[in-house]
Amino acid sequence: MTASLQHIAIIMDGNGRWAKARGLPRTEGHRQGAKTVTQILEAIQKRNIKYVTLYAFSTENWKRPPEEVSTLLNLFRQYLKEDLTQLQKNSVRIHFIGDRSKFPKDIQKEMNKLEYETCSCDKYHLVLALSYSGRDELTRAVTKVALQVKKGLLSPSDISEKTIEKELDTIGIPNPDLMIRTSGEQRISNFLLWQLAYSEMYFSSVYWPDFTEEELDKAIEAYKSRDRRFGGIK
Ligand code: IPE
Ligand code: IPE
Ligand code: MG
Repeated sequence: MTASLQHIAIIMDGNGRWAKARGLPRTEGHRQGAKTVTQILEAIQKRNIKYVTLYAFSTENWKRPPEEVSTLLNLFRQYLKEDLTQLQKNSVRIHFIGDRSKFPKDIQKEMNKLEYETCSCDKYHLVLALSYSGRDELTRAVTKVALQVKKGLLSPSDISEKTIEKELDTIGIPNPDLMIRTSGEQRISNFLLWQLAYSEMYFSSVYWPDFTEEELDKAIEAYKSRDRRFGGIK
């Protein structure tokens, strides 16, 4: 039986190398990468996959040169204001995961507004990981659990996986079935450390700006041939 596929998570990597290979500045790669986001989102939704999570900016990416960070912030601004507003029409609910307090106030405002305005959409869900890292998310979650214990609302012996899950940024979102990373790197780079526990991994050698619907289908085909056992036997 083919395993169901309701959530794809993508590490969109390789924008800088795509640009370098063409003698262009890294920032051009990010601009081209933003166009790929729109195309791939459409392709995923056309295939009736309800959830997609995109890793767009990690907590570690803040240490890149200021010019690159500033180009990325401008691209997010533009994307939040123009492209995402379009998505609302297709009944896409938007979620942001990560530490949004690190962003300039106008971007934070736009994020809150988009989440609020799409909160009753439920055909598709788009989860954008911005200033996100799995360790940071887990650290923030553990802090919240510790506070509940300190206040006497929770006893340490009652802490379960559910207690932690409820404090993660991804509350209410099912775990990814398939994780795709582009650009040939085969690592997680601090993405969804908790949620990827039993996800199937697919690594594409294509740089993100070159990722196409055909490449997406290759990943989906590979997923369909996997045997998911979740630690059990078949
Ligand atoms: C992914 O592409 C986008 C971000 C991390 C913001 P990179 O910018 O990491 O591109 P490479 O990996 O250097 O080619
Ligand atoms: C991971 O890519 C983060 C995003 C794609 C947003 P990086 O390019 O930052 O990861 P490393 O440095 O190659 O591990
Ligand atoms: Mg990279």
